Amino acid sequence: LGNPDERQKRLPIRVSRKSRGTQVVTCSVATTKYTGQERVDILAEALPFIQKFQGKTVVVKYGGAAMKDENLKDGVIKDLVLLSCVGLRPVFVHGGGPEINEWLGKVGIKPQFKNGLRVTDAATMEVVEMVLVGKVNKSLVSLINRAGGNAVGLCGKDGKLITARPQGVDLGFVGEVASINTSILKAIVENGSIPVIASVAADENGQAYNINADTAAGEIAASLGAEKLILLTDVAGLLLDRENPESLVKEVDMKGVKKLVQQGTVSGGMIPKVNCCIRSLAQGVHTASIIDGRLPHSLLFEILTDKGAGTMITG
Ligand code: ARG
Repeated sequence: LGNPDERQKRLPIRVSRKSRGTQVVTCSVATTKYTGQERVDILAEALPFIQKFQGKTVVVKYGGAAMKDENLKDGVIKDLVLLSCVGLRPVFVHGGGPEINEWLGKVGIKPQFKNGLRVTDAATMEVVEMVLVGKVNKSLVSLINRAGGNAVGLCGKDGKLITARPQGVDLGFVGEVASINTSILKAIVENGSIPVIASVAADENGQAYNINADTAAGEIAASLGAEKLILLTDVAGLLLDRENPESLVKEVDMKGVKKLVQQGTVSGGMIPKVNCCIRSLAQGVHTASIIDGRLPHSLLFEILTDKGAGTMITG
């Protein structure tokens, strides 16, 4: 933890194995500017948050850069395990990342678009489900397990977690959330395990739909009565002036953020994300944060430090 700018610097950690299983771990401390005191200060700062959020559900939507970059991915996985270890109840919701397009290419399916939006036909949906549920989901489960957590992978079909319905616009098998059944999730988090959810769900006839992962995370947070919804994104958060990173809005209430949308301060791809936060807050989620997934350990920053790692919207 520490100052985001300084966190960008990685500590080169070398592990070399010697005979009889002895490990020698060397870690260059020369690259960090933190004194021992600063390090313990940061740790100590986490205590009130750990106490406040113990036993509380935190829904994390995972996507973007944090999904593509292996170092960032590793950080997210470790953060989830740490949060779970200290008694929070993380619920992890993910999109497909770069792998869906990669596999569509490999099996020779050409992307189709309608007014600039991707059309998910039956053949595309089949690959989306295979990659998202069979590959991406299971690899995240395996990474969490390897990091010492206990993960259970699901998609919307499992335990009837999400029932889908077609979205208004005809983009093929792109769905909306029709209903959520949280009983399976409650059982998993009460067991101390981490649910890992791929945002694919079936309608009442069993037809599979791809659901936007932000939307799925927001709806899941709302129906669990979560403490927090956290969207990991590729931006610093909400900026008052797009050109100026200093203009980051650290904290804003629902009324304030609606105003920012009306004024046009929040625009483009951020609007659906903000709306997703507003919908979950309106249904009782306490805070919804849009954080910078490009920074290592942004989850710990957001949850366990005063400053956070982006914009926190309060209900
Ligand atoms: N860690 C505290 C919390 O989770 C404060 C987070 C502040 N975050 C922010 N983006 N301003 O409640």
